[in-house]
Amino acid sequence: MDFDTIIRGGTIATASDTFACDIGISGGRIAALGENLGAAKEIVDARGKLVLPGGIDSHVHVSQPSAPGIVMADDFASGTRAAAFGGNTMMLPFALQQKGESLRQVVKDYHAKADGQCYVDVSFHLIIADATERVLGQELPALVNDGYTSFKVFMTYEGLALSDLEMLNVMSVARETQALVMVHAENYDAIRFLTDRLERAGKTAPQYHAASRPIPVEREATHRAISLAELIDVPIMIVHVSNREAMEEIRRAQQRGLKVYGETCPQYLVLTEKDLEGLNMEGAKYVCSPPPRDKQSQQACWEGMQQGVFALFSSDHCPFRYDDPQGKLIPKGRTSFRWVPNGIPGVETRLPILFSEGFGKGRISLNQFVALTATNHAKTYGLYPKKGTIAVGSDADIAIWDPKREVTISQALMHGGSDYTPYEGIKVTGWPVSTMLRGRFVVRDRELVGKPGDGAYVPRDKSPLAAPRSA
Ligand code: URP
Ligand code: ZN
Ligand code: ZN
Repeated sequence: MDFDTIIRGGTIATASDTFACDIGISGGRIAALGENLGAAKEIVDARGKLVLPGGIDSHVHVSQPSAPGIVMADDFASGTRAAAFGGNTMMLPFALQQKGESLRQVVKDYHAKADGQCYVDVSFHLIIADATERVLGQELPALVNDGYTSFKVFMTYEGLALSDLEMLNVMSVARETQALVMVHAENYDAIRFLTDRLERAGKTAPQYHAASRPIPVEREATHRAISLAELIDVPIMIVHVSNREAMEEIRRAQQRGLKVYGETCPQYLVLTEKDLEGLNMEGAKYVCSPPPRDKQSQQACWEGMQQGVFALFSSDHCPFRYDDPQGKLIPKGRTSFRWVPNGIPGVETRLPILFSEGFGKGRISLNQFVALTATNHAKTYGLYPKKGTIAVGSDADIAIWDPKREVTISQALMHGGSDYTPYEGIKVTGWPVSTMLRGRFVVRDRELVGKPGDGAYVPRDKSPLAAPRSA
């Protein structure tokens, strides 16, 4: 049998093994792994390269409504293009419901934004902001059945924060439908109190964003989310964990046998709150929530990944332009960090940062790298084994890496819609040079060869991790 493509001579790594072999691809899927696979329409020479499952970034925001006058820097085209250059073959952004909106309509609108625009595959999480009877009783269960099998709830942010009662109601629906609940854990009232106090003291620069949401704000909410989930026996994923105290809350819950999972992100490994102290408004480039912390917190996030407390390493890509009145600069008439949109770009730099700082510096193995950036995302969100691994029958979603390539991260190298990268100047070794989606290159030798529409929407199965303990 002739294959469509054979990737020859590379070193393959999965979440469990590293081995040298060739990959035969037919009809967009991996058809064979082995030596001397025979003929193919195209042979891709991967000698000296690592051949890894394409990254899956399961925490990304694109084309999401923001505060009035603020516009997100990426739509589906630019966001998925950046993802492809960063070695990803799939990303999972959020369809965000605003108060009063029908969840079904939100999902329809989000599809319309994505259709025909994507360079890599996408699937959607939901964000539940209006937990009405209709949403919880009808729309949400129906959407879970239709393949939207995970949703995020916020414990902070004006217009998004749910009360504890609402959290419990939403979690109950998740339990009944076996959807996975993702929790943004920060204490809203504490943040409001601290923000008011900082503003009254004239502390209005971006650097005070970090002071407005210190570690106890995140630890308390993490503890509370876990407690609420325990009350009704529902699994939860605590997203974007930034520090030891929150990480230890998750570890303790896991040790007690609860199904509590964790995610961390690049900003908590390589940035600190000092980055928010830039001159003038430069600090706004690093405003995200939770904020980057300190060196000890970075170490805790590494330990969380090394010890399996965190299953996921995602970007929380949430890009705004810096030098733009619709972006990071405080809008006219507004006076403090409170008005700086929260979120930073990162979908293109997530993998090189973890590869270099993690695998390159001996903190994690190559197999842990694959698990944290691809396989665990597929397993967590109902995509495995179609996605997230290199195995016969899986989609041929593959990133070819030059493990020796030295790169200084800079905005000039980026392919998204933002005008800055918070990781400017960071030196990494190892870079994804080609990205193949379902057997076809999207990026080849660092050139874009794919087009909008190559990426498709992928409905998901229910997460096996979302089954309650007592099911
Ligand atoms: O600051 C952040 N993380 N913005 C993105 C939205 C979120 O909370 O994930
Ligand atoms: Zn969040
Ligand atoms: Zn996010």
